[in-house]
Amino acid sequence: MKVIIGSDHAGYQMKEKVIAHLRQRGVEVEDVGTHGEESVDYTDFGKKVASKVSDASFDRGILICGTGLGMSMVANRFRGVRAARANDLFSAIMSRRHNDSNILAMGGRLIGDTLALQLVDTWLDTPFEGGRHQRRLEKMDTE
Ligand code: RB5
Repeated sequence: MKVIIGSDHAGYQMKEKVIAHLRQRGVEVEDVGTHGEESVDYTDFGKKVASKVSDASFDRGILICGTGLGMSMVANRFRGVRAARANDLFSAIMSRRHNDSNILAMGGRLIGDTLALQLVDTWLDTPFEGGRHQRRLEKMDTE
């Protein structure tokens, strides 16, 4: 599985920990930045990640800003992207089982690193259930 990850300054520290964790797990991960704690616009990094999930260059994306809100809003404007803001385990699990989420957005100012790594692992490992949920997803892109 190929994963692409990005953050703004508010998610930078957490992003670095997630990247180290993913590489330890043997997951191929591309880091689009940001690369420090200087203030940047979350929109720029959200777009970099979401565009590459949208065009299928990557299987999954992970976005981290202060709350996960701005990043998920940006990402969900891209066709084929289903970004889930999940700062709790139940949301992360259900976003995979029922919504086949392909981007996980987390809030670096809301949750601790231990929970973030648990969210990432759970989200990567939980399969989509398909069936009636597939039908519902297909209706997302129609009027
Ligand atoms: C940056 O201050 C903050 O607005 C950003 O990280 C994010 O939480 C936006 O939704």
